[in-house]
Amino acid sequence: MGRASTKSEYEAPVFLHSIGQLVTLSGPLLPGVRRGAAMREIGLIADGAVLISGGKIVSAGTTRALLRDAWIKQHRKSLIEIDCRGKVVLPGFVDSHTHPVFAAPRLVDFEKRITGASYAEIAEAGGGIRASIQGVRESSEARLAENVLKALREMQSMGTTTVEAKSGYGLDAASEIKSLKAIRRAAKDWAGTVVPTLLGAHVPPPEYRSNPQAYVEIVCNEMIPAVAKQKLAKYVDVFCERGAFTMEQSRRILSEAAAKGLEVRAHVCQLTRAELQPILQLHPVSLDHMDYVSDEDIAALAGMDTVATLVPGANYFLGLDEYPPARKLIDSGVAVALATDYNPGTSPTASMPFVMSLACTHMKMAPAEALTAATLNSAFALGLGDRKGSIESGKDADLAFFQLNDYREVSYWFGSNHCVATMMAGKFAD
Ligand code: NIG
Ligand code: FE
Repeated sequence: MGRASTKSEYEAPVFLHSIGQLVTLSGPLLPGVRRGAAMREIGLIADGAVLISGGKIVSAGTTRALLRDAWIKQHRKSLIEIDCRGKVVLPGFVDSHTHPVFAAPRLVDFEKRITGASYAEIAEAGGGIRASIQGVRESSEARLAENVLKALREMQSMGTTTVEAKSGYGLDAASEIKSLKAIRRAAKDWAGTVVPTLLGAHVPPPEYRSNPQAYVEIVCNEMIPAVAKQKLAKYVDVFCERGAFTMEQSRRILSEAAAKGLEVRAHVCQLTRAELQPILQLHPVSLDHMDYVSDEDIAALAGMDTVATLVPGANYFLGLDEYPPARKLIDSGVAVALATDYNPGTSPTASMPFVMSLACTHMKMAPAEALTAATLNSAFALGLGDRKGSIESGKDADLAFFQLNDYREVSYWFGSNHCVATMMAGKFAD
């Protein structure tokens, strides 16, 4: 950036100016989550400027307009001014679906898939999610926290400033709680925002394979009450899928979560079709994957606040021909978000720009739609739409800076990183 920074330096208000392209996503006439044609309204400002104070955005507009502002004129000398010419500045990405608490990559699964085995076949044979359990059970909270922090830092290096982080590879009460504590510990050492989710219902662990219902009872009677009591998670998630949990079991788990004051979200329709009505009745904040969602459920979702979070990194890494029906969802009026699904089995990527690129090339989303999905709509998918996801007065000053001329280049260049800085709560990351 224009000048070196230290933390104390940024206690003074910051004035970013001469921004090549500022993407605000702001829209006083478009409050709430974006749908349909509104997903292309990204509030683009050429030669933009942003005033930041106390970790919040004070105002955003053209450099010309902000230089005419009476307060800025009066206080100009005490502001930290940063020249951002040649850069695209965006709201920091909100990665609303990640699984960062694991011990090791799953290279055996990777090689098996290359030689023709499917994700379901590998899982059936004891690979998949179950292959990650032992590593988490044997790892200390501190060791897991280190892995989570490493992932958060990698995400941030590519423009992400808010991350939802799930447990889900411990799969007994103690290991799921340890996983959530690891997330909490890592979050303390990171300047961005972390939203923790209990995914105790990822798959029934091997010891409950012949009696998965008994495991559902452990999730409901041990994990959820303990997590609610210790305030270790905002959300409870469930993998509703053949080979994981049935619709009935999923509904039971999510109802129990709601009864304990936790909010709900779910993995649905990733590998097979499911009718979503029983889960929709619980008003999940987000339903994720959605590859096999039915037309009836798309119509129902168009009238709801529930966000459809698409994670095409998983389709890419599993080498699938089909991708989630983003066009149909958007054109039907469903609010669509994008996330990495960072995990060792189906989507080992921390890159929101790569996911946006996949959204454009494989799901035919416009670059503007991909941006909205990766920022404002994913903020709504975490119940943070009032604080995150756009550059508007009063919102958190979470920004991503790209050494690019045009916002469409964020989705265009893939496999390389053009993010040169991130700001979280008004402070540049080290
Ligand atoms: O979102 N589908 C369930 N969970 C992850 C996969 C986890 C894994 O294979 O380790 C997903 O794709
Ligand atoms: Fe997932």
